[in-house]
Amino acid sequence: MNTLLPACALGGRRLHLGVCGSAAAYKAVDIMRLLQQSGVHVSVCLTEAAQRFISPLTFAALDASPVYTRFFDERGGGVFAHLEPGGNAHALLVAPASAATIARLACGDADTLLAAQALAFDGPLLLAPAMNPRMWAHPATRRNMDILRERGARCIQPAVGRAACGDIGEGKLAPVREIVFAAAAAMLPQDFAGRHVLVTLGPTRERWDDVRFWSNPSTGRMGAALACAAALRGATVSAVAGPGVQELPSSVRRIDVVTAEDMLAAALDVWPRADAGIFAAAVADFAPLPFGGGKFKKAGADSLRIDFSPNPDILAELGRYARPEQKIFGFAAESANLEANARNKLQAKKMHLTAANLLGLPDSGFAGDKNTLFVVDCRGREEHWPAMSKADAAWRLLDWLSTL
Ligand code: CTP
Repeated sequence: MNTLLPACALGGRRLHLGVCGSAAAYKAVDIMRLLQQSGVHVSVCLTEAAQRFISPLTFAALDASPVYTRFFDERGGGVFAHLEPGGNAHALLVAPASAATIARLACGDADTLLAAQALAFDGPLLLAPAMNPRMWAHPATRRNMDILRERGARCIQPAVGRAACGDIGEGKLAPVREIVFAAAAAMLPQDFAGRHVLVTLGPTRERWDDVRFWSNPSTGRMGAALACAAALRGATVSAVAGPGVQELPSSVRRIDVVTAEDMLAAALDVWPRADAGIFAAAVADFAPLPFGGGKFKKAGADSLRIDFSPNPDILAELGRYARPEQKIFGFAAESANLEANARNKLQAKKMHLTAANLLGLPDSGFAGDKNTLFVVDCRGREEHWPAMSKADAAWRLLDWLSTL
């Protein structure tokens, strides 16, 4: 699973993961692994019920440290095990969170090690509930969740579906990637809070006949990394995504489009409310003039000529309506003269920031997990960045954008 988490920002962060008794307890391992892959140090506390579903050894073998199971256990913290996470961790995530643990946390009952650790923890608390739909809908659970929310706890809303017992309704553990994303955000600076960021990403597809279109190999990965980075830093994000773009976190408002004209219309709609525009889409600069009448038949045609008409330049178009405080950040995909072309595009398109990459090299441009960028801003700052994950590049680009 590609979570697009920035290891450059998450490396060295510490998460304490509480695991309660639930058929979904095994998913806590995936949550832990994904965070560890981004350099997060994870400690774990399993309730007694959780240990009926999954072994503490599983977490210990996968580098969780410490793994707490009960009060006064020498292997898991000793006398002060209930206080350690409060002194060490940047966030406490309980996933899955059972009705019993939620009730304990709501009333400050410290009769289990996990509840005591939560009571002694004053950092961000996240709860990912998982239980039978009737237990989740019960007024007692609702009230307990309200109390916890009022105190600042974040609830990662359970999903609707078939519970392990067969009942259907709301109460299933939220998708792992949503839980991981929320936990990561809780450990990161919220320096984009209150800002609205528009991101265009992915390719556009320009239809020629009933079965054929003109497009390019963009996957939207770089734009997805930027949308995620902005959301992780607290921004409201509107992502206008071309076809085939991967799933984005639910906190990102996603608007799916197909053609450049659709993308322009959707971006124009968002732009008046945005503080910054990130134009990462690989927009088809030209669209084929439609072949009139259904599907083109090859019989009798030994060659094919297609005429094209220009598409709108979305970045340039929105730039025309930009207020002075709106920041514009675009890309430059080049096959030669990287630096000169990047500087030219920065000026010609009146961007505040341009990230340029050479096409056709490994770890640069379309698809792939990494990018190699030349970055230039409107204040004359320029840097060549080595190949790095698109998530890390996105994080650093937002660092630059936030200074402009
Ligand atoms: N862009 C856009 N709409 C277009 C073309 C480009 O919004 N129709 C944006 C891209 O998202 C990118 C920037 O403009 O942020 C530069 O795109 P790029 O493809 O590198 O260059 P072009 O301006 O299209 O010029 P050329 O293809 O001649 O290099």
